[in-house]
Amino acid sequence: MQSISSVMAASTSQVRHILVTGANSGIGLALCKLLAAEHGCHVYLGCRSAEKGAAAVASIAVAAPLAKDRVEALTIDVSDDVSCAAAAEAVRAKGVKLYAVVNNAGLLPCCSLPCSLRAWVTQS
Ligand SMILES: NC(=O)c1ccc[n+]([C@@H]2O[C@H](COP(=O)([O-])OP(=O)(O)OC[C@H]3O[C@@H](n4cnc5c(N)ncnc54)[C@H](OP(=O)(O)O)[C@@H]3O)[C@@H](O)[C@H]2O)c1
Repeated sequence: MQSISSVMAASTSQVRHILVTGANSGIGLALCKLLAAEHGCHVYLGCRSAEKGAAAVASIAVAAPLAKDRVEALTIDVSDDVSCAAAAEAVRAKGVKLYAVVNNAGLLPCCSLPCSLRAWVTQS
């Protein structure tokens, strides 16, 4: 398996545009910061809340000022097909071809869980 560094170093002539879903917190936000600040990528922070997306972009701009022009929020709720299609269209409209999509926003498929676990998950 290739490291992030080796993949990113493979071509330095072109900025890589990467979408990370669930990017306003946790692993997604940390990855966006890493990709933009340390690997020169242009990163789309996929967030279902525009407000949270803006706040996440601002937090990266503060933490890594040199990367601030390479991060932007993209509204996307991965559980909503209409939202996903709109996000894809928004990227397409920019004339951007994504290098990668990181499906970080996890969804637990409750329908495939045993009844007891499904009840626990939906109640918690
Ligand atoms: N942390 C771990 O130890 C660990 C271990 C194994 C696997 N994972 C997986 O790694 C991923 C990230 O984990 P994390 O710890 O960083 O989680 P987290 O801090 O809870 O962050 C989850 C992110 O996903 C977003 N999100 C949730 N549902 C979404 C949806 N339908 N559409 C778009 N965004 C959505 C959340 O946005 P909101 O703020 O809007 O809710 C949040 O930004 C998850 O898939 C998790 O299952 C994590």
